[in-house]
Amino acid sequence: MSAKKTGFYCNACGHFTSRWLGRCAGCGEWNTYVEETLPTGRESRSAAAGGEAPVAVTEVSLVDDERRSTGMAELDRVLGGGLVPGSLVLLGGDPGIGKSTLMLQVAGTISSGGSRVLYVSGEESTRQIRLRADRLGAVRPELYLYAETDLDAIEKQVGKVNPLLMVVDSIQTMYGPDLGSSPGSVSQVRECTARLMRLAKERSISVFVVGHVTKEGMIAGPRVMEHMVDVVLYFEGERHQSFRILRGVKNRFGSTNEIGIFEMSGTGLREVTNPSSFFLMDYAHRDAAGSVVVPTMEGTRPLLVEMQALVSPTSFGVPRRMTTGVDHNRTALIMAVLEKRLGLMLGNCDAYVNVVGGVRIDEPAVDLGIAVALASSFRERVIDGNTVVLGELGLTGELRPVSAVEKRVREAARLGFGRCIIPRQKDVPAESGLQIMQAATLAEAFELLFG
Ligand SMILES: Nc1ncnc2c1ncn2[C@@H]1O[C@H](COP(=O)(O)OP(=O)(O)OP(=O)(O)O)[C@@H](O)[C@H]1O
Ligand SMILES: [Mg+2]
Repeated sequence: MSAKKTGFYCNACGHFTSRWLGRCAGCGEWNTYVEETLPTGRESRSAAAGGEAPVAVTEVSLVDDERRSTGMAELDRVLGGGLVPGSLVLLGGDPGIGKSTLMLQVAGTISSGGSRVLYVSGEESTRQIRLRADRLGAVRPELYLYAETDLDAIEKQVGKVNPLLMVVDSIQTMYGPDLGSSPGSVSQVRECTARLMRLAKERSISVFVVGHVTKEGMIAGPRVMEHMVDVVLYFEGERHQSFRILRGVKNRFGSTNEIGIFEMSGTGLREVTNPSSFFLMDYAHRDAAGSVVVPTMEGTRPLLVEMQALVSPTSFGVPRRMTTGVDHNRTALIMAVLEKRLGLMLGNCDAYVNVVGGVRIDEPAVDLGIAVALASSFRERVIDGNTVVLGELGLTGELRPVSAVEKRVREAARLGFGRCIIPRQKDVPAESGLQIMQAATLAEAFELLFG
């Protein structure tokens, strides 16, 4: 037999080249190509190719698409209302964040309903998984554990066990023996994903695949896989904090702007059903300048978070500007507006903005919150802890209306806040116990807050 042909794959984006290059022609990263054996024709069939003839859209049956609950409302929401049979879901996340824990809990809940679940692990022994299952209360007769990395063997066992749900932990440890390259290489990850996809579609099994990601996104796998799978979820959180956020990045069956919030405990992940009060847990006693509460939206849910800023004179050189949880450029823009429209001389100050709890906020509705926190710290004036602020900031210093005001205001009232400052708008929502004040400009809002 002739020697196998080789080629080079980019570790970051999966781009292929037949000769080595220093810089990836696909994503522009340096030094990312790795040499691998090329797949032969047999392995690289596409998952969707089932040899079917074209069908009229009206003739396509929908019966298979009933969603199954995972038993965790937070996960169901991120999936778009439950698990779709025959779907392939990729769960990515940093090492030790709790991916296996989440998967085993879901496996436990689904199997406790009498459905069979196959949990394939290439990372841990069945004993290790059993120990974790004991801790999570997921020991069920219908839950099958299988420590294996050979995809041929796994496919065979799937035929025997015939599960409703399969978990593969993790894709980087799986390999197809037909391929020469080692597990975790781009071609192996791609091939294994394609095979799992085919398995899911042919047998109508829901498949969860765990994938490792580094901060740089450099590990072969998830980046390449994202295009192939139906749903991509990222499990994130601060290592030293107990809460975890599950975020949908891609979803062929639902929206991607929902998040699920969990708390890690000794007995596994607990759903956080009341996120606002969770994130504001220790807010009530705060009495310092540079802090204000903002009602933000995460998907369809309002979430109250504390925005903090620290402004201090620069000791030398160029002022430092740092943000955590909000957009850096947006903050720079808000600081420019503060300086130009309100005369706050921030030019010689270091400024730090932080969203407490590690949440990331993308929406402009928190602009006013950032501005108020910065001004509060700059002027050393405390914002009373009874107030929430809301509004998008324009370059001329005007406040623009934001979406879903009613929901945000209702959440603030529910958590016992007494005053809400919103942009001027036509229909002002009313909440008993909550005083709603309108401001057309940033200056007006400051007048209300600082007097
Ligand atoms: N006895 C325990 N009590 C509380 N928390 C625990 C306990 N054991 C493990 N944990 C938590 O579970 C985390 C590990 O979870 P898990 O193994 O599911 O992560 P993972 O994302 O699968 O990691 P890996 O990338 O190594 O596979 C630990 O970081 C810790 O926070
Ligand atoms: Mg794990």
